[in-house]
Amino acid sequence: MNVTTTYQLLDGKRAAKAVRERIAEEVAAMKREGGRAPHLAAVLVGDDGASRTYVASKVKACEEVGFRSTLITRPAATTEVELLDLVRALNHDPELDGFIVQLPLPSHIDEEHVTLAIDPRKDVDGFHPDNIGRMVLGLPGFLPATPAGIVELLRHYSIETAGKHCVVIGRSHIVGTPMSILMSRNSYPGNCTVTLTHSRTKYLAAITRQADILIPAIGKAEFVTGDMVKDGAVVVDVGIHRIPDASKKSGFRLVGDVKFDEVAPKCSWISPVPGGVGPMTITSLLLNTLKAAKG
Ligand code: GUN
Repeated sequence: MNVTTTYQLLDGKRAAKAVRERIAEEVAAMKREGGRAPHLAAVLVGDDGASRTYVASKVKACEEVGFRSTLITRPAATTEVELLDLVRALNHDPELDGFIVQLPLPSHIDEEHVTLAIDPRKDVDGFHPDNIGRMVLGLPGFLPATPAGIVELLRHYSIETAGKHCVVIGRSHIVGTPMSILMSRNSYPGNCTVTLTHSRTKYLAAITRQADILIPAIGKAEFVTGDMVKDGAVVVDVGIHRIPDASKKSGFRLVGDVKFDEVAPKCSWISPVPGGVGPMTITSLLLNTLKAAKG
């Protein structure tokens, strides 16, 4: 077996830093010319620990590039009507360029109702059907942050994509499905032959072993094992999970959807967790907010 033993890291932290420096320069120029800073608001409902961490990272990233940011927290008992009222108020706030409602929401609130209520021009998450439709048709709009971040990561490291077989694992509305669309577009990165796999896919390992580019977004810790990956593959790991680890002071460590130690030696390129897709997702959100501010 021809096993590749040297792999290169798709370092999302480094790629994100480069893009964020460009954003910060642009914001500084906007302010110098008398304009105001782009302004993002994040709505957090309830007290999900992971969501709180993600939203805090988004707010911190805004500060680092010179954006204005507003964190709006609401208790878990907030009703759907109350949240929809808040969304409408944010839609009409002239001081605000874009906003996100962090998912998941408490189970008594219908996420679809909330997504549909957001003004597509302020939908910097790119989840509204108008923006999803625009993405499918290749029209200008907001791309969903995680898939757009992955595209930027591949671009940053000049990963060849044309004619490659890209296998996506997971068909969520916010990652797997849009990822499959972006990778099949007639552009760079893109022009892949894409297979979108999911929980009902038969012979999954036989398909993933054919992937030149493998993008697991399935939400299961260390699901992708070495035997599922072709030698020389490019692997972009979307998952992020806390697993117990008594050797850590915190009592846990972060892993992705990929069993890194087994898979990495087979890869030409692989993204780490943490420090891979996560920083790029937040960078896409900043790029979308900048675009919203520019109108
Ligand atoms: N929950 C997990 N990822 C995301 C995201 O990109 N945006 C929002 N709003 N919620 C999320």
